[in-house]
Amino acid sequence: MGKIILALESSCDETAAAVICAGKLMGHAVASQQVHATYGGVVPELAARVHQQNIIPIVTQALQEADIQRIEVQVVAFTQGPGLLGSLLVGTSFAKGLALALQVPLVAVHHIKAHILANFIEDPKPCFPFLGLVVSGGHTQLILVKDYLDMELLGQTQDDAIGEAFDKIAKMMGFPYPGGAWIDKYATMGDPTKFAFPTTTMPHLDFSFSGIKTAFLYFLKKQGAKMPIFLQKYRNDLCASIQATLVQMVVEKVQAAVAYTGVQQVVLGGGVAANSGLRHRLKVVGQKQGWELFVPAPKYCTDNAAMIGIAAYYQVQVGDFCSGKVESLSRIPL
Ligand code: KG4
Ligand code: ZN
Repeated sequence: MGKIILALESSCDETAAAVICAGKLMGHAVASQQVHATYGGVVPELAARVHQQNIIPIVTQALQEADIQRIEVQVVAFTQGPGLLGSLLVGTSFAKGLALALQVPLVAVHHIKAHILANFIEDPKPCFPFLGLVVSGGHTQLILVKDYLDMELLGQTQDDAIGEAFDKIAKMMGFPYPGGAWIDKYATMGDPTKFAFPTTTMPHLDFSFSGIKTAFLYFLKKQGAKMPIFLQKYRNDLCASIQATLVQMVVEKVQAAVAYTGVQQVVLGGGVAANSGLRHRLKVVGQKQGWELFVPAPKYCTDNAAMIGIAAYYQVQVGDFCSGKVESLSRIPL
Protein backbone atom coordinates (compact mmCIF):
# COMPACT_ATOMS: atom_id res chain seq x y z
CA MET A 1 0.00 0.00 0.00
CA GLY A 2 1.49 3.38 -1.01
CA LYS A 3 1.33 6.40 1.23
CA ILE A 4 -1.66 8.73 1.07
CA ILE A 5 -0.38 12.04 -0.33
CA LEU A 6 -2.31 15.30 -0.16
CA ALA A 7 -0.94 17.66 -2.85
CA LEU A 8 -1.51 21.40 -3.18
CA GLU A 9 -0.98 23.73 -6.17
CA SER A 10 -1.16 27.52 -5.86
CA SER A 11 1.59 28.91 -8.11
CA CYS A 12 -0.53 31.20 -10.29
CA ASP A 13 -4.31 31.62 -10.49
CA GLU A 14 -5.58 28.09 -9.88
CA THR A 15 -6.06 26.78 -6.32
CA ALA A 16 -5.98 22.99 -6.49
CA ALA A 17 -5.74 19.96 -4.20
CA ALA A 18 -5.38 16.27 -5.00
CA VAL A 19 -5.14 12.98 -3.13
CA ILE A 20 -2.76 10.38 -4.56
CA CYS A 21 -2.28 6.87 -3.23
CA ALA A 22 0.13 4.31 -4.72
CA GLY A 23 0.51 6.50 -7.82
CA LYS A 24 -3.27 6.59 -8.40
CA LEU A 25 -5.38 9.73 -8.32
CA MET A 26 -8.13 9.33 -5.70
CA GLY A 27 -9.56 12.86 -5.52
CA HIS A 28 -8.98 16.21 -7.23
CA ALA A 29 -10.46 19.70 -6.96
CA VAL A 30 -9.54 22.93 -8.78
CA ALA A 31 -10.85 26.48 -8.36
CA SER A 32 -9.98 28.85 -11.21
CA GLN A 33 -9.94 32.52 -10.29
CA GLN A 34 -12.34 34.62 -12.35
CA VAL A 35 -11.36 37.93 -10.74
CA HIS A 36 -8.44 38.53 -13.15
CA ALA A 37 -10.60 38.58 -16.31
CA THR A 38 -11.61 42.19 -15.56
CA TYR A 39 -7.94 43.24 -15.56
CA GLY A 40 -6.87 41.28 -18.67
CA GLY A 41 -4.15 39.42 -16.75
CA VAL A 42 -3.32 37.90 -13.37
CA VAL A 43 -3.07 40.49 -10.55
CA PRO A 44 -0.63 38.88 -8.07
CA GLU A 45 -2.06 40.43 -4.87
CA LEU A 46 -5.61 39.43 -5.79
CA ALA A 47 -4.46 35.92 -6.70
CA ALA A 48 -2.87 35.41 -3.26
CA ARG A 49 -6.00 36.67 -1.52
CA VAL A 50 -8.30 34.37 -3.50
CA HIS A 51 -5.98 31.39 -2.83
CA GLN A 52 -6.47 32.07 0.88
CA GLN A 53 -10.25 32.00 0.46
CA ASN A 54 -10.22 28.87 -1.71
CA ILE A 55 -7.64 26.62 -0.12
CA ILE A 56 -9.68 25.10 2.72
CA PRO A 57 -12.82 24.39 0.63
CA ILE A 58 -10.67 22.92 -2.17
CA VAL A 59 -8.70 20.63 0.18
CA THR A 60 -11.98 19.54 1.82
CA GLN A 61 -13.48 18.78 -1.60
CA ALA A 62 -10.45 16.70 -2.74
CA LEU A 63 -10.44 14.70 0.52
CA GLN A 64 -14.20 14.10 0.25
CA GLU A 65 -13.89 12.93 -3.34
CA ALA A 66 -11.16 10.49 -2.27
CA ASP A 67 -13.22 9.43 0.76
CA ILE A 68 -10.23 10.13 3.01
CA GLN A 69 -10.26 11.75 6.48
CA ARG A 70 -7.73 14.52 7.10
CA ILE A 71 -5.97 12.45 9.80
CA GLU A 72 -5.34 9.64 7.28
CA VAL A 73 -3.05 11.88 5.17
CA GLN A 74 0.53 10.54 5.40
CA VAL A 75 2.46 13.07 3.26
CA VAL A 76 1.71 16.72 2.40
CA ALA A 77 3.09 17.97 -0.94
CA PHE A 78 3.02 21.52 -2.31
CA THR A 79 4.34 23.58 -5.23
CA GLN A 80 7.53 25.28 -4.06
CA GLY A 81 7.93 27.26 -7.35
CA PRO A 82 8.44 28.65 -9.89
CA GLY A 83 5.44 30.99 -9.77
CA LEU A 84 4.02 34.11 -8.15
CA LEU A 85 5.57 34.46 -4.71
CA GLY A 86 2.41 35.61 -2.89
CA SER A 87 0.40 32.75 -4.41
CA LEU A 88 3.09 30.15 -3.65
CA LEU A 89 3.28 31.32 -0.03
CA VAL A 90 -0.39 30.46 0.55
CA GLY A 91 0.06 26.81 -0.48
CA THR A 92 3.46 26.49 1.21
CA SER A 93 2.24 27.90 4.54
CA PHE A 94 -0.90 25.78 4.48
CA ALA A 95 1.15 22.65 3.72
CA LYS A 96 3.66 23.38 6.49
CA GLY A 97 0.88 23.97 9.04
CA LEU A 98 -0.99 20.82 8.09
CA ALA A 99 2.14 18.63 8.05
CA LEU A 100 3.10 19.94 11.48
CA ALA A 101 -0.38 19.33 12.90
CA LEU A 102 -0.54 15.81 11.46
CA GLN A 103 3.15 15.08 12.23
CA VAL A 104 3.76 13.86 8.65
CA PRO A 105 6.58 14.64 6.18
CA LEU A 106 6.53 17.43 3.58
CA VAL A 107 7.46 17.23 -0.11
CA ALA A 108 8.39 20.39 -2.09
CA VAL A 109 7.50 19.99 -5.79
CA HIS A 110 8.95 21.81 -8.84
CA HIS A 111 6.01 23.12 -10.90
CA ILE A 112 7.63 22.57 -14.32
CA LYS A 113 8.75 19.02 -13.53
CA ALA A 114 5.19 18.37 -12.39
CA HIS A 115 3.78 19.63 -15.74
CA ILE A 116 5.88 16.93 -17.44
CA LEU A 117 5.04 14.24 -14.89
CA ALA A 118 1.32 14.96 -15.55
CA ASN A 119 1.87 12.41 -18.35
CA PHE A 120 2.17 9.70 -15.67
CA ILE A 121 -1.30 10.31 -14.19
CA GLU A 122 -3.03 8.19 -16.84
CA ASP A 123 -2.08 5.54 -19.41
CA PRO A 124 -0.33 5.31 -21.85
CA LYS A 125 2.85 6.45 -20.11
CA PRO A 126 6.05 7.50 -21.89
CA CYS A 127 9.43 5.74 -21.50
CA PHE A 128 12.71 7.43 -20.56
CA PRO A 129 14.58 9.19 -22.00
CA PHE A 130 12.15 11.51 -23.77
CA LEU A 131 11.85 15.15 -24.81
CA GLY A 132 9.60 17.30 -22.63
CA LEU A 133 7.96 20.46 -23.96
CA VAL A 134 6.35 22.70 -21.35
CA VAL A 135 4.21 25.41 -22.94
CA SER A 136 2.21 27.57 -20.55
CA GLY A 137 1.32 31.13 -19.64
CA GLY A 138 4.63 31.52 -17.83
CA HIS A 139 7.00 29.04 -19.50
CA THR A 140 8.21 27.70 -22.83
CA GLN A 141 10.90 25.12 -22.22
CA LEU A 142 12.41 22.14 -24.02
CA ILE A 143 13.69 19.58 -21.54
CA LEU A 144 15.57 16.29 -21.82
CA VAL A 145 13.82 14.00 -19.33
CA LYS A 146 16.20 11.21 -18.26
CA ASP A 147 14.14 9.91 -15.34
CA TYR A 148 11.16 10.99 -13.20
CA LEU A 149 13.21 13.59 -11.37
CA ASP A 150 16.29 13.90 -13.57
CA MET A 151 15.66 16.64 -16.14
CA GLU A 152 17.99 18.85 -18.17
CA LEU A 153 16.95 22.19 -19.68
CA LEU A 154 17.82 22.31 -23.40
CA GLY A 155 16.27 25.61 -24.42
CA GLN A 156 13.67 28.16 -23.39
CA THR A 157 12.05 31.44 -24.31
CA GLN A 158 14.23 34.50 -23.95
CA ASP A 159 11.24 36.82 -23.50
CA ASP A 160 7.48 36.04 -23.51
CA ALA A 161 6.11 32.55 -22.95
CA ILE A 162 3.98 31.16 -25.79
CA GLY A 163 0.83 31.30 -23.60
CA GLU A 164 1.59 34.95 -22.89
CA ALA A 165 1.80 35.59 -26.66
CA PHE A 166 -1.55 33.81 -27.18
CA ASP A 167 -3.13 35.84 -24.35
CA LYS A 168 -1.74 39.22 -25.45
CA ILE A 169 -2.80 38.64 -29.08
CA ALA A 170 -6.24 37.51 -27.85
CA LYS A 171 -6.50 40.73 -25.84
CA MET A 172 -5.72 42.78 -28.99
CA MET A 173 -8.62 40.99 -30.65
CA GLY A 174 -10.95 41.77 -27.76
CA PHE A 175 -11.25 38.25 -26.29
CA PRO A 176 -11.55 37.78 -22.51
CA TYR A 177 -8.52 36.73 -20.44
CA PRO A 178 -7.05 34.13 -20.72
CA GLY A 179 -7.59 34.21 -24.46
CA GLY A 180 -5.52 31.27 -25.74
CA ALA A 181 -8.50 28.92 -25.86
CA TRP A 182 -10.57 31.55 -27.75
CA ILE A 183 -7.94 31.78 -30.49
CA ASP A 184 -7.94 27.98 -30.66
CA LYS A 185 -11.75 27.93 -31.00
CA TYR A 186 -11.98 30.50 -33.82
CA ALA A 187 -8.88 29.09 -35.55
CA THR A 188 -10.76 25.87 -36.32
CA MET A 189 -13.12 27.93 -38.55
CA GLY A 190 -10.44 30.00 -40.33
CA ASP A 191 -7.82 29.74 -43.07
CA PRO A 192 -4.32 29.31 -41.56
CA THR A 193 -2.65 30.47 -44.79
CA LYS A 194 -4.62 33.71 -45.18
CA PHE A 195 -2.07 35.96 -43.39
CA ALA A 196 1.68 35.61 -42.88
CA PHE A 197 3.53 37.07 -39.89
CA PRO A 198 7.28 37.57 -39.48
CA THR A 199 8.85 35.26 -36.90
CA THR A 200 12.00 35.64 -34.82
CA THR A 201 14.70 33.02 -35.28
CA MET A 202 16.59 32.16 -32.12
CA PRO A 203 19.82 30.17 -31.86
CA HIS A 204 19.78 26.43 -31.09
CA LEU A 205 16.73 25.45 -28.96
CA ASP A 206 15.72 28.84 -27.58
CA PHE A 207 12.49 30.68 -28.39
CA SER A 208 11.31 34.29 -28.67
CA PHE A 209 7.65 35.29 -28.86
CA SER A 210 7.64 39.01 -28.14
CA GLY A 211 8.40 40.07 -31.74
CA ILE A 212 5.47 38.24 -33.28
CA LYS A 213 3.11 39.80 -30.75
CA THR A 214 4.29 43.29 -31.77
CA ALA A 215 4.14 42.40 -35.47
CA PHE A 216 0.53 41.26 -34.99
CA LEU A 217 -0.36 44.54 -33.23
CA TYR A 218 1.06 46.69 -36.08
CA PHE A 219 -0.58 44.49 -38.70
CA LEU A 220 -3.99 44.92 -37.00
CA LYS A 221 -3.51 48.70 -36.71
CA LYS A 222 -2.48 49.06 -40.35
CA GLN A 223 -5.30 46.91 -41.73
CA GLY A 224 -7.85 48.48 -39.33
CA ALA A 225 -6.92 51.98 -40.62
CA LYS A 226 -7.64 50.83 -44.18
CA MET A 227 -10.78 48.82 -43.33
CA PRO A 228 -12.46 49.52 -39.96
CA ILE A 229 -14.30 46.17 -39.99
CA PHE A 230 -11.09 44.22 -40.76
CA LEU A 231 -10.99 42.50 -37.37
CA GLN A 232 -14.65 41.45 -37.43
CA LYS A 233 -14.46 40.33 -41.06
CA TYR A 234 -11.32 38.25 -40.72
CA ARG A 235 -11.53 37.14 -37.07
CA ASN A 236 -11.38 33.40 -37.83
CA ASP A 237 -8.63 33.73 -40.47
CA LEU A 238 -6.57 35.93 -38.15
CA CYS A 239 -6.88 33.36 -35.35
CA ALA A 240 -6.05 30.46 -37.68
CA SER A 241 -3.06 32.29 -39.22
CA ILE A 242 -1.49 33.52 -35.97
CA GLN A 243 -2.03 30.13 -34.29
CA ALA A 244 -0.44 28.33 -37.26
CA THR A 245 2.56 30.70 -37.04
CA LEU A 246 3.03 30.19 -33.28
CA VAL A 247 2.60 26.43 -33.65
CA GLN A 248 5.14 26.31 -36.49
CA MET A 249 7.71 28.14 -34.34
CA VAL A 250 7.35 25.46 -31.69
CA VAL A 251 7.24 22.52 -34.12
CA GLU A 252 10.53 23.60 -35.72
CA LYS A 253 12.29 23.65 -32.34
CA VAL A 254 10.81 20.29 -31.34
CA GLN A 255 12.12 18.76 -34.58
CA ALA A 256 15.56 20.25 -33.90
CA ALA A 257 15.50 18.95 -30.31
CA VAL A 258 14.48 15.45 -31.41
CA ALA A 259 17.37 15.42 -33.92
CA TYR A 260 19.77 16.76 -31.27
CA THR A 261 18.82 14.26 -28.54
CA GLY A 262 17.87 11.23 -30.65
CA VAL A 263 14.80 10.55 -28.46
CA GLN A 264 11.78 8.71 -29.83
CA GLN A 265 9.08 10.27 -27.69
CA VAL A 266 7.91 13.85 -27.16
CA VAL A 267 5.87 14.68 -24.09
CA LEU A 268 3.80 17.87 -23.69
CA GLY A 269 2.72 19.75 -20.60
CA GLY A 270 1.30 23.16 -19.63
CA GLY A 271 -1.86 25.04 -20.56
CA VAL A 272 -0.92 25.59 -24.23
CA ALA A 273 -0.59 21.79 -24.65
CA ALA A 274 -4.42 21.94 -24.70
CA ASN A 275 -4.19 23.80 -28.06
CA SER A 276 -5.75 21.63 -30.75
CA GLY A 277 -3.54 23.05 -33.53
CA LEU A 278 -0.33 22.29 -31.63
CA ARG A 279 -1.46 18.77 -30.70
CA HIS A 280 -2.50 18.01 -34.29
CA ARG A 281 0.66 19.36 -35.96
CA LEU A 282 3.00 17.62 -33.53
CA LYS A 283 1.14 14.35 -33.98
CA VAL A 284 1.37 14.56 -37.78
CA VAL A 285 5.05 15.56 -37.77
CA GLY A 286 5.83 12.82 -35.24
CA GLN A 287 4.13 10.19 -37.37
CA LYS A 288 6.10 11.33 -40.42
CA GLN A 289 9.42 11.37 -38.59
CA GLY A 290 8.95 8.26 -36.47
CA TRP A 291 8.51 9.66 -32.97
CA GLU A 292 5.55 9.34 -30.66
CA LEU A 293 3.62 12.20 -29.01
CA PHE A 294 2.20 12.08 -25.47
CA VAL A 295 -0.21 14.75 -24.20
CA PRO A 296 -2.09 14.70 -20.88
CA ALA A 297 -5.87 15.12 -20.81
CA PRO A 298 -6.66 18.89 -21.06
CA LYS A 299 -7.55 19.10 -17.30
CA TYR A 300 -4.02 17.88 -16.49
CA CYS A 301 -2.39 20.28 -19.02
CA THR A 302 -3.53 23.47 -17.25
CA ASP A 303 -2.43 24.04 -13.65
CA ASN A 304 -3.73 21.28 -11.36
CA ALA A 305 -2.75 19.42 -8.20
CA ALA A 306 -2.89 15.91 -9.65
CA MET A 307 0.46 16.61 -11.33
CA ILE A 308 1.90 17.89 -8.02
CA GLY A 309 0.68 14.70 -6.34
CA ILE A 310 2.18 12.40 -8.98
CA ALA A 311 5.52 14.26 -8.80
CA ALA A 312 5.42 13.92 -4.99
CA TYR A 313 4.71 10.19 -5.37
CA TYR A 314 8.02 9.74 -7.23
CA GLN A 315 9.86 12.02 -4.76
CA VAL A 316 8.57 9.92 -1.83
CA GLN A 317 10.01 6.77 -3.53
CA VAL A 318 13.50 8.25 -3.28
CA GLY A 319 13.03 9.88 0.14
CA ASP A 320 13.07 13.42 -1.28
CA PHE A 321 11.35 15.16 1.67
CA CYS A 322 11.96 18.73 2.83
CA SER A 323 12.12 20.45 6.20
CA GLY A 324 9.47 22.74 7.65
CA LYS A 325 11.88 25.63 7.05
CA VAL A 326 11.67 25.32 3.25
CA GLU A 327 10.84 28.56 1.39
CA SER A 328 8.67 29.33 -1.64
CA LEU A 329 10.78 30.40 -4.63
CA SER A 330 9.52 32.44 -7.60
CA ARG A 331 12.34 30.96 -9.70
CA ILE A 332 14.00 27.54 -9.32
CA PRO A 333 16.37 25.86 -11.77
CA LEU A 334 15.23 22.43 -13.01
O1 KG4 B 1 -0.26 25.89 -17.37
P1 KG4 B 1 -1.23 27.01 -17.23
O2 KG4 B 1 -2.62 26.67 -16.72
O3 KG4 B 1 -0.71 28.13 -16.27
C1 KG4 B 1 0.61 28.53 -16.24
O4 KG4 B 1 1.42 27.88 -15.53
O5 KG4 B 1 0.89 29.52 -16.96
O6 KG4 B 1 -1.34 27.71 -18.66
C2 KG4 B 1 -2.21 28.79 -18.93
C3 KG4 B 1 -2.00 29.24 -20.37
C4 KG4 B 1 -2.72 30.56 -20.71
O7 KG4 B 1 -1.81 31.38 -21.40
C5 KG4 B 1 -3.85 30.10 -21.64
O8 KG4 B 1 -4.27 31.06 -22.58
C6 KG4 B 1 -3.20 28.91 -22.33
O9 KG4 B 1 -2.51 28.25 -21.28
N1 KG4 B 1 -4.16 28.01 -22.97
C7 KG4 B 1 -4.26 27.85 -24.31
C8 KG4 B 1 -5.30 26.94 -24.54
N2 KG4 B 1 -5.83 26.56 -23.31
C9 KG4 B 1 -5.11 27.24 -22.36
N3 KG4 B 1 -3.53 28.41 -25.30
C10 KG4 B 1 -3.84 28.03 -26.56
N4 KG4 B 1 -4.84 27.15 -26.86
C11 KG4 B 1 -5.59 26.59 -25.90
N5 KG4 B 1 -6.54 25.72 -26.20
ZN1 ZN C 1 1.75 25.83 -14.95
